[in-house]
Amino acid sequence: MKVLVTGGAGYIGSQTCLELLRKGHDVQVVDNLLNSSVEALTRVKRLSNRNLAFTKCDVRDTKLLNRVLGDFQPDAVIHLAGLKAVGESAAKPTLYYDVNVGGTAALLSAMEKVSCDNIVFSSSATVYGEPQYLPCDEQHPLNPINPYGRTKLFGEELLRDWSLAEPKNRHAVALRYFNPVGADLSGEIGEDPNDIPNNLIPFVAQVAVGRRDFLQIFGNDYETVDGSGVRDYIHVVDLARSHVVAVDHIQALAPFEAINIGTGSGLSVLQMVREFEKQSGKQIKYKIASRRLGDVAEVWADASKAKKMLGFQTKFGLSEMCRDTWRWQSANPNGYQKN
Ligand code: NAD
Ligand code: WQD
Repeated sequence: MKVLVTGGAGYIGSQTCLELLRKGHDVQVVDNLLNSSVEALTRVKRLSNRNLAFTKCDVRDTKLLNRVLGDFQPDAVIHLAGLKAVGESAAKPTLYYDVNVGGTAALLSAMEKVSCDNIVFSSSATVYGEPQYLPCDEQHPLNPINPYGRTKLFGEELLRDWSLAEPKNRHAVALRYFNPVGADLSGEIGEDPNDIPNNLIPFVAQVAVGRRDFLQIFGNDYETVDGSGVRDYIHVVDLARSHVVAVDHIQALAPFEAINIGTGSGLSVLQMVREFEKQSGKQIKYKIASRRLGDVAEVWADASKAKKMLGFQTKFGLSEMCRDTWRWQSANPNGYQKN
């Protein structure tokens, strides 16, 4: 199949391109490289021993986007391009709506011009907001608590409306990712945050490699297994595979489906830190800090819909998530291009 991947140079996108190429799909990447490096794609080509096409393009650049889609004539699109920092989304809501919602609308219009009817979208567990019950299934009320989360929810609604305008032909799948971590097993591609990491595991990895002095653990007084926050961490290789499976099954699905992508179980911050120490052989210095505004105590997925609809199940657990993050971080202490 010919698959166009927006945001394909990024953390999840580059791994997704690798899995697509490994499965024999042809890939065209569109990315403006705002938060990524073309070096990731060079490595993807080397690892897969295959070629892919890359065009530096903003998804809001309608003219160029139309040209790329016109030339490539994709059978399906995987749409990962977007902005993802929760704090920044509160400071710059119009930018987030423009890129995440406007960019999705521009992409759907470009798809219509070439009669491409299939799209897989990066949504997020953040659309659920504060969990009202656990595990969180897809019927859980949608109540995101920050602008970033709302852009994902509106992105889903846009896809639903687009698919229902031509329900016999169109298919849209919103994958609601829980917490992606880890790196390719080769250690050659992984997460390379531009700035101080917002997320737990990239921060832990930078402490382990000596780029940061200590981790702050945001709260040890939650009603959880050990007082620290609990999340459903999913290995990025599993997450990337879920996109390939979604593309493969998309035409058998209803016009619009939202599907959780997680492991179905939760791990605490302290459990993650201890396993990272074990896998890296490094001590992770940490201090207990106050709770982070907007954090929930615990959340994990009901992952049964992904199994039922896509036949998708995760393969990797806690040890592989920490092992593979460390393999990537220790081989690339400063990420891409900067070693
Ligand atoms: P990332 O920043 O590594 O990847 C996003 C890519 O999109 C980057 O390569 C960036 O350069 C590109 N991009 C940004 N704005 C663009 C634009 N206007 N036009 C073209 N390209 C643009 O982030 P990621 O972690 O790989 O996330 C991929 C997607 O998954 C995002 O949509 C994100 O919101 C979503 N998501 C991420 C997480 C997570 O924790 N990483 C969780 C849930 C959902
Ligand atoms: C995980 C746990 C923190 C950093 C965020 C977004 C969400 C989604 C994924 C895109 C929590 C604790 C963290 C640190 C810590 N992104 N923590 N010290 O908050 O579950 O989700 O990323 O869609 O929208 O909100 O992930 O990795 O930031 O935090 O103690 O330095 O680690 O309190 O319990 P989160 P996270």
